[in-house]
Amino acid sequence: MKAWVCNAFGEVPQWVDAPDPVVQPRQVLIDVAACGVNFADTLILQGKYQKRPEGPFSPGFEVSGTVRAVGDGVSHVKPGDAVMAMPDWGGYAEQVVADGSLVMPLPNGVDFNIAAAFQIAYGTSWFALKYRADVKPSEIVLVHGAAGGVGLTAVECAKLLGATVIATAGGADKCQIARDHGADHVIDYKSENIRDRVREITASLGQPKGVDVVYDPVGGDVFDQSLRCVAPGARMLLIGFASGTVPQIPANILLVKNVTAIGFYFGAYLEQNPDIAQAGMAELLERLKSGAIRPMISAVYRLEDAMDALTAIRERTATGKLVIDCRPNR
Ligand SMILES: NC(=O)c1ccc[n+]([C@@H]2O[C@H](COP(=O)([O-])OP(=O)(O)OC[C@H]3O[C@@H](n4cnc5c(N)ncnc54)[C@H](OP(=O)(O)O)[C@@H]3O)[C@@H](O)[C@H]2O)c1
Repeated sequence: MKAWVCNAFGEVPQWVDAPDPVVQPRQVLIDVAACGVNFADTLILQGKYQKRPEGPFSPGFEVSGTVRAVGDGVSHVKPGDAVMAMPDWGGYAEQVVADGSLVMPLPNGVDFNIAAAFQIAYGTSWFALKYRADVKPSEIVLVHGAAGGVGLTAVECAKLLGATVIATAGGADKCQIARDHGADHVIDYKSENIRDRVREITASLGQPKGVDVVYDPVGGDVFDQSLRCVAPGARMLLIGFASGTVPQIPANILLVKNVTAIGFYFGAYLEQNPDIAQAGMAELLERLKSGAIRPMISAVYRLEDAMDALTAIRERTATGKLVIDCRPNR
């Protein structure tokens, strides 16, 4: 099969003829139709992701496609079925294996690109906001990186939970995307101070001390400013550190304001909470099928051009989700 293969952390992946993967017990072998692009693809290539593959590997954590073969112990899908899946890695390729527990039949009416773009971003935002932060309809949620992959879905998910959303993003175009996806208030952090603007907005909403929930995939200075515009009792969701800086949290501020910092890692959460995982994914799929959520795919790349997608993520020009079409001869 054709694949992008990384031979050592920090090296540029190579476009090669790689051996076809072999399905093991409880696994599913998938002919990949589409693969979603994630910021974490850039991290795993550098060996900076939570999971570190041993030996050559392809990036790519979320795919859709057609089942080619199933291993012993897999009965919920069969060869020929259209599926969506979250492999450990390996999606930048024509074939991938995934653990059967993370392979789901593709719902009717959902196309391959949407399925590949949907799983991680919406899964992260829905489970974090609903099940970890317990967002209530009367609450104000501050979402950072709001035109990016997970940030944009957090805007939509917080609105579905009935909250008022303040979104931050860098630049007018990105702010407009957040607005178009439901943000009630938008802050351009290239030209506005987050803390001051959040306080002005929450004061106008009758809550001068700040927001109830922060959803932060950026970290660094953005986190530090957020900590200074949260209401007493606020919950701060630590989603990621796209800025490259892991925040150091002054515990005295958490104490004085009764603030809770909540770590959230979607992959581990699914493993640790299989019942909630099943229920939550079903909730999301219902909303996807009904059109209540609208994944924004801003660009689709051919598999051989996949490195251009990673460049767009690194250079911060990507908005919403990028998808790689992995079907041969496209
Ligand atoms: N916890 C989990 O389970 C989970 C799941 C998925 C993703 N994540 C994490 O969430 C973060 C975002 O992932 P994503 O896939 O949504 O990425 P993405 O689509 O590239 O979005 C990241 C956003 O972060 C902002 N940003 C600020 N500083 C940046 C920098 N130095 N470089 C790049 N972007 C920067 C950008 O918005 P502006 O240009 O508007 O600032 C960008 O839109 C990553 O750290 C990722 O690892 C965590």
